[in-house]
Amino acid sequence: MPRYDLLIRHATIYDGTGSPARKGDVGVAGERIVAIGDLSAATADREVDAGGRALAPGFIDAHTHDDQSVLCGADCMLPKLSQGVTTVVIGNCGLSLSPATMRKRPPAPLDLIGGADAWQFDSFSAYADTLRRAPPATNVYALIGHMVLRCEAMDFDLDRPATDKEAERMRRRLAEALMQGASGFSTGLWYPPSRHAPTDEVIAVAEALRNHGGLYVTHMRDEGDGVLDSIEETLKIGRDTGSAVVISHHKCMLPQNFGRSTETLARIDRAAKTQKVDFDVYPYPAGSTALMPDRVSADLPIQISSSEPHPEMAGRMLNDIAAEWGIDAVGAAKRLLPAAAIYFFMHEDDVRRILRHPRSMIGSDGIPSNDMPHPRLWGTFPRVLGHYARELGLISLEQAVHKMTGLTAGVFGMTDRGVLREGAYADLVLFDPDTVVDTASYTAPKTPARGIEEVWVNGVSSYVGGKGVTGECAGRLVTRNAQ
Ligand code: ZN
Ligand code: CU
Repeated sequence: MPRYDLLIRHATIYDGTGSPARKGDVGVAGERIVAIGDLSAATADREVDAGGRALAPGFIDAHTHDDQSVLCGADCMLPKLSQGVTTVVIGNCGLSLSPATMRKRPPAPLDLIGGADAWQFDSFSAYADTLRRAPPATNVYALIGHMVLRCEAMDFDLDRPATDKEAERMRRRLAEALMQGASGFSTGLWYPPSRHAPTDEVIAVAEALRNHGGLYVTHMRDEGDGVLDSIEETLKIGRDTGSAVVISHHKCMLPQNFGRSTETLARIDRAAKTQKVDFDVYPYPAGSTALMPDRVSADLPIQISSSEPHPEMAGRMLNDIAAEWGIDAVGAAKRLLPAAAIYFFMHEDDVRRILRHPRSMIGSDGIPSNDMPHPRLWGTFPRVLGHYARELGLISLEQAVHKMTGLTAGVFGMTDRGVLREGAYADLVLFDPDTVVDTASYTAPKTPARGIEEVWVNGVSSYVGGKGVTGECAGRLVTRNAQ
């Protein structure tokens, strides 16, 4: 009679591949799933009766800024564990916490992941060592950010293209990090500290990916009027360096570009026939990042999510603050700096079209350091499951789970994760498909999802719905295509 460490009985199994859910039991020994099927003859140290509720692979957050959060214990990862997330991809949008220290506060938006004192890792291996000594509460898959490499190689003189020598220094730093367990390279070409980097500079640095098989992941130069040109640039960088590309938080922003996701998705589909290209999306028509006065206008609704000189303004609309101060929106934005904000600049139809596309992965893009964060930090995954799949029927629950598990593991090359099968790691989420939903809103953004019942990371119970994190930190660094 087989005996397991953990046996979950009477589950409806969503295996992460997108194939139809089925009834069954799942047996776990140590950190792996060892049996799936009718295990009624088996026993275990701990048995859980799922009562027909859904059991899926732990969700993979394809796009995060959790570089600092994963270092500070289980409580810091509550926003993710409470959604069923068991693996986070860090280092997005050109922003990563290694491989450089900063002699001063880094420029926005790099400072969203930490002040000057957070930058203690002059190599990726120093960061990875810290994760080994004090394991994270979720698994971590790491990208290296272009903006960090630029600050170091160009000594903060960023409003110009890098010289050949500087680009070569960045390429070497990236190559080192890839050898030390980082899995790809990210850019944020839209942001002031990186927008002066021409395509050639990015290609010169990304050349390091060629020998290491890493991914090129990008917050593109323009997600508005120039979104198609930016897709072309991204595809070219992928082709010229022989790397697979991921377009981050795909969107069409500003009213004059609403509806253009029909064009962008068609272009991506066409490109996907000849090169590897994928994208992630968050399920909201508002974005969030640093507050940038030159991106502010009175007709764009903007909500402040944090401000260092004026923390009391978090949660309020910029136009209201400007009116109260008797100045214009740009002036008010300048007075609030350093600050972060939520920008209401997308159309719901584009969000839905991108979510529905078979290639889109789910990524939260949450910013944990904000006082009044965008609700995506706490709500992304249950919102896709509850609002978009169950309530609106935009996609099936099987497809929704696939977009946050098997699809993502495949794109990023996470071996034995994102699928529920014998031999895979026991990253698991048990949830109630009839009630699962986000509760985080723009006015009350820090609230845990409803319907997530228990979450296991590498076989270890890490979150229990209604109770919170268990305090266990069973995560580890996950690298591309490693065993
Ligand atoms: Zn971004
Ligand atoms: Cu981001």
